[in-house]
Amino acid sequence: MSYLKDKCVVLAVSGGIAVYKAIELLRLLTKAGADVHVIMTRSAQEFVTPLTFQTLSSNPVHVELFNLIAEREIGHISLADRADLFIVAPATANVIGKIACGIADDMLTTTVMATKAPVLIAPAMNVNMYTNPIYRENEARLVRLGYLFADPVCGSLACGWEGQGKLAAPEVIFEAALAALSAKDMAGRTLMVTAGPTREEIDPVRYISNHSSGKMGYAIARAAARRGARVILVSGPTCQSAPFGVELVAANSACEMLAAVMSHASRCDVVIKAAAVADYRPVERNASKVKKHSDSMTIELVRNPDILAGLGAMEPRPFLVGFAAETDNLVEYAAKKMKDKNLDMIVANDVSRSDAGFNADNNRALLLFRDGRSKDCPLMSKDALAERILDSIATELNGDRG
Ligand code: PMT
Repeated sequence: MSYLKDKCVVLAVSGGIAVYKAIELLRLLTKAGADVHVIMTRSAQEFVTPLTFQTLSSNPVHVELFNLIAEREIGHISLADRADLFIVAPATANVIGKIACGIADDMLTTTVMATKAPVLIAPAMNVNMYTNPIYRENEARLVRLGYLFADPVCGSLACGWEGQGKLAAPEVIFEAALAALSAKDMAGRTLMVTAGPTREEIDPVRYISNHSSGKMGYAIARAAARRGARVILVSGPTCQSAPFGVELVAANSACEMLAAVMSHASRCDVVIKAAAVADYRPVERNASKVKKHSDSMTIELVRNPDILAGLGAMEPRPFLVGFAAETDNLVEYAAKKMKDKNLDMIVANDVSRSDAGFNADNNRALLLFRDGRSKDCPLMSKDALAERILDSIATELNGDRG
């Protein structure tokens, strides 16, 4: 999805072994449509040459404060003015210290000081530098002043130490960049999203499940966090990475998902149930692996609790959005589910086609509302559909249907 079309992003790279990760970040930014201008400090150029960034950004890389060509329009000021977002990644303790103290003695620090755009800083340094009270004060000061941070993660550091200081993954910094540029129409709201399948265990090695990958629910959680919501993502077992800024709660079975959802529901403004919850579970889970004694076997199943119906019966209840995965009679079955489960809205998706629905990257859906209105969402990426669903929820919550 071209999230950053028409956006100018300045990517400022300071010196550290993590410079190579800034290349992947640049790739993500340009893939999302951003016009990226790279600034490199002198020490960053010791790790990777400007040519790499220049080739991938299709823009000249800025390395000198006084460049005769760029200075025709005062390079650092024009770049600072043009930026919609300024990212410093990796950001060394030295560069962060300079920014915090207002020191502007090279292209990076001068431009960041002159910009009015949001500044996102992704630190990378030795764990003892990261925990040093001087660094902590510098970071706290910048946070107070509205600078955004994509915190480093724990791991084994290039210097040989173990601890927090590793540059956040490029995907995480990219998500933080999208969040920095998104309208915050969900700010102040708490949203719970469920995603993925559930697993109903037969014995320690076997289970009953379905083909849900979690992509749809995770796309909604990511988009809602970007739009400023506090997001609780209750997830069945999936291969999806935890979205940036989202509280992830793991639930394996339908009963575990019920417990997780109900423990948070009363504090939520909105619940969106994209999970494909198994309707039945084995009456008994064998404690040890079931042996093959005969040519056939029968497993007795019992109905799982309907989590969404339970939410629909709450008083008061959050704004409730269900999903309906159907292979036939899409509208009729989805409308019945909306009524029976007392929902505000239902996302009806036809899962009979291989280009959409379960495990696909794309989806198509019909959004049905309680008062009989509907909105058609043709085949699009799950990220794009997530935005459409949230647009509709925001409209319903804000009462501005026009
Ligand atoms: O995960 P992906 O691979 O991206 O695929 C996305 C999806 C196809 C799983 C998703 O778009 C979707 O349709 N999710 C709902 C699947 C489903 O279980 O539909 P249903 O029609 O069986 O259930 C209706 C609603 O009741 C759903 O919101 C479901 O979460 C909820 N439910 C169902 C059973 C149950 N015991 N408890 C529930 O809360």
